[in-house]
Amino acid sequence: MDTFAEKIVEHVKGHRCYSHPVFENWAKANPAPEVVGALFHQIQNFCASTRPGLNFPDALKKNGLTDQSALMQEIVESEANHGPELATMAGHVVNRAAGERVCADLYDQAAVEGKLKEFSDAILGALPGYDKKSGLTTQAREAIAVFERRMLSDKESTYRNLGTALALEMISNRQLIPGEKHCLIDSGLYKADLNEAEMHYLLEHWGEVGAEQQHEKNAIEAISLVGDHRAQQLVKEGADDFLNSLTALWDLLDTSLLQSGYARRLAA
Ligand SMILES: [Fe+2]
Ligand SMILES: [Fe+2]
Repeated sequence: MDTFAEKIVEHVKGHRCYSHPVFENWAKANPAPEVVGALFHQIQNFCASTRPGLNFPDALKKNGLTDQSALMQEIVESEANHGPELATMAGHVVNRAAGERVCADLYDQAAVEGKLKEFSDAILGALPGYDKKSGLTTQAREAIAVFERRMLSDKESTYRNLGTALALEMISNRQLIPGEKHCLIDSGLYKADLNEAEMHYLLEHWGEVGAEQQHEKNAIEAISLVGDHRAQQLVKEGADDFLNSLTALWDLLDTSLLQSGYARRLAA
């Protein structure tokens, strides 16, 4: 019989999120620079919400899960400084898509992120539920809200957070980062290279020695220590909260920006 860890890994692999074609469709659509900016705005904000540990590592400790706490703390620490590097990469790709310096200083994180939000407001701003202040779609806000549960430290929320962490690290390692590499590098659309300084974010995250590979290992190890049946159920629910909310965000970005022909109309 399969262990719980094996079962939950298979469960994540079977979810629609795991094989979502949003990045393949990005590569096929060759979106206009404004669309690239809007995509990065939603993705960047989602990624930022997944980095802080908030009360999660302490909550694990408080609930007697000391080994899991150490494994999660390692992931949180390795995420430091990834926000500025993601902004640099996003601005660089927008510049390449535009063929001009839309983002003048790629190392001014606030300026780059401000530009991305402008594009998002212009293109997605009319969607129902779009929040003008943050520039976030309903779907992005819901995916982000899953990580706000890390504020809570009761036992049930803590087990759910473990499941969310597992799904996050598996999707990062096997869908999101490989997807970004596919559309940003392999597609040739941006003449970008993993060894360019501006693309360091991807170099750091991608592949056998990438950060996400190590995060996934940590998360699977943490899950394999959960023996109680009720706790396992909560872990699975936490994984599904992540998978379902991110799938809804990918669906929205895919249909509204990549599949609708909007990208091509703008470029024409
Ligand atoms: Fe990261
Ligand atoms: Fe990660």
